Amino acid sequence: MTDLVKDERQNKTGASSGPGGDPGASRHVQLRDADDVVLSVEDLVVEFGVGGGSTVHAVSGVSFDVRRGETLGLVGESGCGKSTTGRSIMQLPKPTSGSVRLHGDNLGGMPSGQMRRARRKLQMIFQDPISSLNPRRRIADIIAEPLRVWGSSPDARKAKVAETLEAVGLDPQLVADRRPHQFSGGQCQRISIARALVLEPEVLICDEPVSALDVSVQAQILNLLEEMKERYQLTMIFISHDLAVVRNISDRVAVMYLGKLCEIAPAVELFDRPRHHYSSLLLSSIPSADQDATTSAARLDRSGGEMPSPVSPPSGCRFRTRCPAATERCAVEEPLMRQVGDGHFVACHHPLEVAEVVASGAEGSVERSADGTPDGALRPVALEGV
Ligand SMILES: Nc1ncnc2c1ncn2[C@@H]1O[C@H](COP(=O)(O)OP(=O)(O)O)[C@@H](O)[C@H]1O
Ligand code: SF4
Ligand SMILES: [Mg+2]
Repeated sequence: MTDLVKDERQNKTGASSGPGGDPGASRHVQLRDADDVVLSVEDLVVEFGVGGGSTVHAVSGVSFDVRRGETLGLVGESGCGKSTTGRSIMQLPKPTSGSVRLHGDNLGGMPSGQMRRARRKLQMIFQDPISSLNPRRRIADIIAEPLRVWGSSPDARKAKVAETLEAVGLDPQLVADRRPHQFSGGQCQRISIARALVLEPEVLICDEPVSALDVSVQAQILNLLEEMKERYQLTMIFISHDLAVVRNISDRVAVMYLGKLCEIAPAVELFDRPRHHYSSLLLSSIPSADQDATTSAARLDRSGGEMPSPVSPPSGCRFRTRCPAATERCAVEEPLMRQVGDGHFVACHHPLEVAEVVASGAEGSVERSADGTPDGALRPVALEGV
């Protein structure tokens, strides 16, 4: 996309820069102009009406894209809107507003026949493999079902089911006639992956695919996903609340908080140099060799407690109620995405400079100077000229 087109789109949505006037800030600045962008999500909004006229703002204007063969990790605490984002890409449910484009075609605006064909190219696997498989059906029938729907012959189905089971490391002779309850969680996830791949999709959305599995099995399933990605030339969105899991599998990582994207960057860059205070906090909550998981998780808890309710999210920056660097500006002005490095985008008025100071800064209270800027180790960095 040319700069001109991007500018026009920003003007149309009125989101080219905030009232504070950060030049170059935009909800879409992270979207790339590349021929090999397979999936592009723009201004995705998903809201659920709940009792008493309240609305859950589950996803509030999320934009990202994924290039062919790329794996995008989508991380954030439980309840921040990751699964809703994944499901609304599949149009289950359709987003409240915004667009999901597959090779440039907007899924939301398609007639049903075209939509069916497009959906074939998008598949999803879920956290709980056992409950996502119909307990009454044979494994062969579960995997063959999408092929049957698409009209392939019984012989072709049998051959494809056997080929796909073998691809995911299961022996078709031993597995085909059994039912899901006869398998372990890891084996059921292999079966789910086979079912998702049998139509040879282009995009696989993995929603916490290893969170319900034993640690020893997690690595096997992650390795299998990498293998399948190679074999079927997949583009992947890998959703997880666990940054440690996302780290190795992702080319790029997008961090989400309370329905919004905070930061998106190449995986190595995000782990080495997080610029958003929330990303930094998440990173500091990964248990290290000399720390137990409880100590690390406590950092998240101490950072102003729980995530606020998505029914009434905070004004301005949604992270401000937990952020050690929040200023008055953060309460009145929503920070828009802007570029801070090569492929690195952050939505923060006062992004971090050095990763190491971030972790310690996230732990305690921060004194403020007269202009409202926090004193101490956390120093906002100027974005101009980046
Ligand atoms: N069908 C629904 N109706 C009402 N609220 C929902 C529905 N689905 C999800 N939510 C709410 O939307 C928010 C985001 O949920 P979800 O996308 O599942 O988060 P995550 O996957 O990051 O844990 C949560 O507050 C959740 O309770
Ligand atoms: S400094 Fe402000 S804008 Fe940045 S994360 Fe903290 S509250 Fe949000
Ligand atoms: Mg989820």
